[in-house]
Amino acid sequence: MRKVVITGGSGLLGPSVVQEFLDHEYEVINAESIKPDQPLCRTVITDLTDLGQVYGVLEGADAVVHLAAIPVAYSHPNEVTFQNNVMATYNILEAAEHLGIRKAAITSSESSYGIVFSKNGLEPQYVPVDEDHPQLPEDSYGLSKIVNEQTAEAVHRRSGMQIVSLRLGNVISPVKYENFPSFIHDASKRAPILWSYIDSRDAASAYRLAVEKDGLGTAALNITADDTSMDIPSKELMTSQFPEVTDIRGPIDQYQTLVSNEKAKKLLGWKPVHFWRDHVSLQ
Ligand SMILES: NC(=O)c1ccc[n+]([C@@H]2O[C@H](COP(=O)([O-])OP(=O)(O)OC[C@H]3O[C@@H](n4cnc5c(N)ncnc54)[C@H](O)[C@@H]3O)[C@@H](O)[C@H]2O)c1
Repeated sequence: MRKVVITGGSGLLGPSVVQEFLDHEYEVINAESIKPDQPLCRTVITDLTDLGQVYGVLEGADAVVHLAAIPVAYSHPNEVTFQNNVMATYNILEAAEHLGIRKAAITSSESSYGIVFSKNGLEPQYVPVDEDHPQLPEDSYGLSKIVNEQTAEAVHRRSGMQIVSLRLGNVISPVKYENFPSFIHDASKRAPILWSYIDSRDAASAYRLAVEKDGLGTAALNITADDTSMDIPSKELMTSQFPEVTDIRGPIDQYQTLVSNEKAKKLLGWKPVHFWRDHVSLQ
């Protein structure tokens, strides 16, 4: 049996990722600072900012999937968010390298593009935003994600370990679909995240593919649903909230995502299959 250590398995996204690996016959360990509400696998209480603890919990693993983080800007003092997210990721990749683990997937964010938490009204330079779009955060959360992507590249350069960074859109676990009717008709809602979302089960399959596929080296991939989270066509959303953005690089006449997932589809052979329209009745 293959063994994977998943960090952050007690959080919002974690249970879907743990379940995905269990469903595919992995032995799973959840490395976390807190226990989950409903245990799906063994949890080892671990402070990921402590390198010794990270060595301990990763020993014997074939792959590591790193979700744990402070997942938002401004919930903590800036340096706390930065230090937690950056050191946890550094420790995981450092320990994984020295323990001979050859596959890792880490978690980045659409927030790394800087639009989400901008207090200065940063707009996308073009849409759909792909992985070549400049990453221009003001906040220490987005910055921590960029540093983590760079850590992944550095560790890959020195060790050859395959490390994929997944830039997630807004994560929606199935119970959260009940909130959708409160915003789907109002373009001003969710504009800073470019109305993106990703079902936690589709994110989970991307993590599994990221450690199962060979030959990826290091790559950063947007992970978003094919559609926006809105019942307003994407072109209308852009005209309403970002009228200055005229560089439109793909079809947006229907409900197409404004954060491109094409690269992940191509490199991982991944396909999102859970869409909010299948869960919410539209009156
Ligand atoms: N929720 C979203 O919409 C979203 C969007 C983009 C990216 N992300 C990223 O996805 C990942 C998961 O997010 P989430 O929404 O499930 O967050 P969450 O806060 O629900 O879960 C994160 C978990 O990480 C654990 N953790 C944090 N620091 C730790 C440490 N030092 N040691 C041990 N455990 C630690 C926490 O206990 C928590 O249970 C994060 O990396 C986040 O930045 C989330």
